[in-house]
Amino acid sequence: MRPPVSQAAAPGKVILFGEHAVVFGEPAIAVAIDLETKVDLIPDETLTQHQVNGEPLDTYKHLFIEKAINLLWDNAGNTTRLNVQTNSRLPSAAGLGSSAALSTSTCAALLHQTEQFSETRLARAAYETEWIGQGEQGSPIDTSASTHGQAIFVDKEEHDNHLWTLRRSDSTWHVHHQPLERMSFVIAHSGEKGKTGELVSKVQMYHDRTDVAQKIIEDIGDTTREGQEALRRGNLARVGELMDEAHELLGMLGVSTSRLDELCRTAREHAHGAKLTGAGGGGCIIALTDEPDACREALQDERAETWIVRSARKGARAWGHRGTRTVNERH
Ligand code: MEV
Repeated sequence: MRPPVSQAAAPGKVILFGEHAVVFGEPAIAVAIDLETKVDLIPDETLTQHQVNGEPLDTYKHLFIEKAINLLWDNAGNTTRLNVQTNSRLPSAAGLGSSAALSTSTCAALLHQTEQFSETRLARAAYETEWIGQGEQGSPIDTSASTHGQAIFVDKEEHDNHLWTLRRSDSTWHVHHQPLERMSFVIAHSGEKGKTGELVSKVQMYHDRTDVAQKIIEDIGDTTREGQEALRRGNLARVGELMDEAHELLGMLGVSTSRLDELCRTAREHAHGAKLTGAGGGGCIIALTDEPDACREALQDERAETWIVRSARKGARAWGHRGTRTVNERH
């Protein structure tokens, strides 16, 4: 008999508006992108330990995979060891949701393997995995974008197009499908790494100690609400202006760097707007532009690694010996 293989794929994301502020209940919009992580998973009776990419699972190197396996396999009483292979096009610690795509695709393969795959279960399990892996902090925005694909709107209030609701102690996030024309972005990597857990802790401390930080976070929330309205009207020039404003506010929150600021300035010569994406402290900027080639060339002249990406139609999928499961069939 052939071994029962489960395979899964899940996209990375960019945050158009609202990173960091979303942790404190302000609204945010994330767009899934067509750079993905893929996972293959086979239970193997001959193994004595879980294996990842041909080596024994190591907590330090494979933190998110270990958390997902504990949650959905070991804790469910399965004793057979797993052979896991991963393959990703997403750079790590770059604000493009690489750990969320890894958590989501691993959970999707595990839920497929145990015949429990559903979009809400996946969204919950992927968030739980990332939350633990990220030092028990952060919002479900990255894993929800990776699960659903397309674009999502996260808010503390529930609206139309509701997908699922996730809670942690006294925080509640309602996740919604965000209607969006397919978009392209130019992405440029600063060459610096930004660790999400550390940056979320830094902003939390600033927020808890000063009114200034609380006001900046509320202002980020306002740019998100205005940005959503500009997207609804199809006014990309206004979306771009608001991205610029959001970047300024993130700078005031202490999560930009001089290199990220410089890349945004360069991108804006050929773009509606540009901002850092994700936790910051390094990682990437995104530019919304009608001239992707010119924008990309200008950024390459600054020695940045660049990508032109499109918003992803598909969210997480799993397939293998039990057929294909796709999560975003409703939209
Ligand atoms: C990281 O992509 C987004 C942050 O808002 C952290 C989080 O929401 O968990 C910075």
